[in-house]
Amino acid sequence: MNDARPIILKIGGSAITDKTGELAAKTEIINRLAEEIKRADLDNLIIVHGGGSFGHPTAVKYGIKDGYKEDPTQKLGFAETHHVMTVLNGLIMDSLIWHEVPAVSIAPSSCFLTENTKITYFDETVLKQYAKMIFTPVFYGDVVLDQKIGFTILSGDQLVSYLALKYDAQKIVIGTDTDGLFDSDPKANPNAKPFKKLNLKELKELQPKLGQAAGIDVTGGMAGKIAELIPAIEAGVHVTITGATKGLSIFRALTGQSVLGTEIEKA
Ligand code: IPE
Repeated sequence: MNDARPIILKIGGSAITDKTGELAAKTEIINRLAEEIKRADLDNLIIVHGGGSFGHPTAVKYGIKDGYKEDPTQKLGFAETHHVMTVLNGLIMDSLIWHEVPAVSIAPSSCFLTENTKITYFDETVLKQYAKMIFTPVFYGDVVLDQKIGFTILSGDQLVSYLALKYDAQKIVIGTDTDGLFDSDPKANPNAKPFKKLNLKELKELQPKLGQAAGIDVTGGMAGKIAELIPAIEAGVHVTITGATKGLSIFRALTGQSVLGTEIEKA
């Protein structure tokens, strides 16, 4: 990443983990994504990844999202949720570095604060210095201290939207386990119709109807993800949602080529 407007890649937890299992990473997909990211060779890339079957089950078990209820076991749950996220992050960092991407991990729990689950504070000093030296910063959905409710979960999608707005991103690329958004779940319904292009108005109409994720998800499945992304789209950032589990879509989207998926524009 350098001073140029960043490209922000969100790798969904559904693409890199088995969301119906627990602590189940899809290492082959992680390796292929690292290869595609290396091949795209971008100086201005910020990566954010989700939690999938690492962060979500632990977050649910201890009720982290809804805040601290004076239950001391929740503190251990907060620590454990952060820890399992660092384990998934470690697998991704391992693969990126092995593929010679100069990636450095930045833990959101160490530089963000929220108020009623929304980001209110970000210490950007370290990120800016990394950016100047053209490292590839890697953030992830994480636990976070919250100035109203004690603590909560900060989703990768809220991070993506926040960073896109703050740094006037060129575009956001979201890699999921489906080729974009569909009018029904394409895994359950082979006749599900894909949305190739959506404007903000169409997206807002569609958003509440988008499904919950398969498996455990504390951040609201696809409907929750889109709700988080709307502020960035409102500000004019282009969003591509494409499949990250099959070859080359992420490379193609990062390098401005057409992909199977959904393109979202403000107008
Ligand atoms: C969730 O992040 C992080 C935790 C539960 C700790 P996301 O909400 O971005 O994760 P995915 O992409 O849905 O798995």
